[in-house]
Amino acid sequence: MGTVCAHYTTAVPAEAGPLVHSPSFSTAYHQDLDDVAPTRYGRWGHESADFLEGALGALDGGLSIVFNSGMSAISATLLSLVRSGEVLVVAHDTYYETRQIADQLRERGVCIRVLTDVVRQLPEAVDGARLVLLESPTNPLMSIHDLRECARLVHDAGALLAVDNSVSSPLGQRPLDLGADVVVTSDAKIVGGHNDLILGHVTVRDPELDSLLRDWRHLHGSIPSAFDCWLAQRSIGSLEMRVERQTANATALTEILARRDEVTDLRWPGWTGDPGYAIASRQMIRGGGLLAFRLPGREHLHRFLRASRLITPATSYGGLQSMANDIATWPHIKVPPGYVRISCGCETTADLVQDVLHALDAAL
Ligand SMILES: Cc1ncc(COP(=O)(O)O)c(C=O)c1O
Repeated sequence: MGTVCAHYTTAVPAEAGPLVHSPSFSTAYHQDLDDVAPTRYGRWGHESADFLEGALGALDGGLSIVFNSGMSAISATLLSLVRSGEVLVVAHDTYYETRQIADQLRERGVCIRVLTDVVRQLPEAVDGARLVLLESPTNPLMSIHDLRECARLVHDAGALLAVDNSVSSPLGQRPLDLGADVVVTSDAKIVGGHNDLILGHVTVRDPELDSLLRDWRHLHGSIPSAFDCWLAQRSIGSLEMRVERQTANATALTEILARRDEVTDLRWPGWTGDPGYAIASRQMIRGGGLLAFRLPGREHLHRFLRASRLITPATSYGGLQSMANDIATWPHIKVPPGYVRISCGCETTADLVQDVLHALDAAL
């Protein structure tokens, strides 16, 4: 996939033409009065969005539609696919703002079934459902759901499966290959990868779903700007290298953390000791840069974060710099104090290892 990433920045070859693709900013287009060609307008689609969709579609293995944020991609999926009177099933550990949209849909007559235990409850909950939305690995606790098995149950019941793939990106996991019908991704994270872009996308294989979502975007005006599309597409050029380094850093940190007495509840899908490892190793391409664990309390965690020179406390994940979140301070999630999500960046592995060892010792 690195080849796809590297070559999707190349413009269509033209004699003495530019090598790389550039954004095209015009939102209005000349019209030939004698021509019957359809009118074009920037909200309905533009070249920079088309070009980015080509790259994302190649990576996800389907037809991609870009949106101006991950939430915009998720709300377009939920609102265009599920109507009043129909059933939407969501896991309790999907992104909290996704669950807020589900709450709003409930107020508008959609029957919402929330799964607190996907394995146990999905077989019954999927009965009569239109759409099931899952996330794996989940943000921030890194739980794993068996996407192949879920797709089988969902399809047997005649429903559609949507998977939020933001924590993995297509370089970590390709949900459409595992049987999902829809994959949604926040590209502000790993795909954008530089913490300077808000963008999202949906990928499907069914052309009818593609045109449904495209019509939704057209009408609701949720297309990203040409500049943002170009920035994302430019970032894709280095996507595989970034994810490989982030995975290498997460591998090295997991090895250290697994040996420390003060660290508990360590989660990283690429680690053999992870409770979800058996499933993750069957469905993921690589473990990625996100891991979660617990230190003994808030003060201990804060000492660790203050002592680290390379891990910055900050929202979001998937960027070049390693970042951390004190998860227990989030109002919508119930975990004991001391829980932290670390997004490994692209620092030199030995530097990050040295920094984390120093910070762990300093926090004791
Ligand atoms: C798993 C997941 N899904 C969706 C979103 C929302 O994406 P965005 O912030 O691009 O709207 C996020 C953002 O943190 C996320 O982590």
